[in-house]
Amino acid sequence: MRLSVVKSDKLKKHPDESDLTFGTIFTDYMFNMDYNLKDKWHNPRIEPYQPISMDPSTMVLHYGQSIFEGLKAFKTKTDAINLFRPKDNFKRFNRSARALCIPEIDEDFALSALKQLLIIEKKWIPKYPGTSLYIRPTIIATDPYLGVRASNTYRFFIILSPVAAYYPEGFNPVKIFVTKDYVRAVRGGLGEAKTSGNYAASLYAGDLANKMGYTQVLWLDGVELKYIEEVGSMNIFFVINNDIVTPALSGSILSGITRDSVIKLAKKWGVNIVERKISIDELFDLHKSGSLTEAFGTGTAAVISPVGVIKYKDSIINVGDGKSGKFASKFYKFIMDLQYGNVPDNMGWIETV
Ligand code: COI
Repeated sequence: MRLSVVKSDKLKKHPDESDLTFGTIFTDYMFNMDYNLKDKWHNPRIEPYQPISMDPSTMVLHYGQSIFEGLKAFKTKTDAINLFRPKDNFKRFNRSARALCIPEIDEDFALSALKQLLIIEKKWIPKYPGTSLYIRPTIIATDPYLGVRASNTYRFFIILSPVAAYYPEGFNPVKIFVTKDYVRAVRGGLGEAKTSGNYAASLYAGDLANKMGYTQVLWLDGVELKYIEEVGSMNIFFVINNDIVTPALSGSILSGITRDSVIKLAKKWGVNIVERKISIDELFDLHKSGSLTEAFGTGTAAVISPVGVIKYKDSIINVGDGKSGKFASKFYKFIMDLQYGNVPDNMGWIETV
């Protein structure tokens, strides 16, 4: 398939890199590609970033048949462009596609199209410490139809956004709220797919948490409301008696790439890492006995985010001493150093564009 490029005659003004936040500014170009039953995926093109015009009956607007990914491009000291495990993102994209009855894409082609887009947009990759270019591949259902079935047509697009830290707290510990009233996903549902509905399902409890002064919700399993699952924008880890514990993937937890990286690094460093069921009651008991020394979340947007306060029912616990713990700091530094090319990539995770 040949990728065409349509040039823009008007380029945007670049933001001040020290003022970046998350997800508000978009670059000059985007990647687009379409699907229909006859031509399959076709017409791949890089063209000026622009609105998508659609019929009000377009299926994605009604039934949420959409999937997305999140990854980042980093600029190194020598001005090279680094991607972190991008093949894993496109693999997961196709797993999400299967879960939502969306036709799969050619992963190698998508990655090579992304690389071309990044080469065109290289100047948009910020260099200010802690910043990067966030990449959002997305597929939406585009049939103008109100019956409930999988769409026969789709749009696949990739947009780019220069970003700083996801949470306003930066690398300072966040406060999380454990909801006992709402669930994000259930086993057998779509919890492990990166699909818009999971994020829609998180909004109401997220809003309640924000109103109480908490940054995010920690979700419990959707069946017994007992076992810890994830934070919604992050997977979660606990340091318990110097072991690292994270909820085992249950089918309703997103299989995070940063999660997997932390697990692999811990194994390499000889730290005992356990993927298992962990209940919220057990966690609070472990805190009471002094065994819980750290909690942190992992995600592409958030990287590693220490958790300092957890609220569940009427109990509030402080984890750590108000600063990032030793494990969170070590993972954060190692992963960031790899991503920005400050250390040699002995994990085989970096793809230089
Ligand atoms: C990411 O970490 O890339 C995410 O997708 C989380 C969030 C911004 C939706």
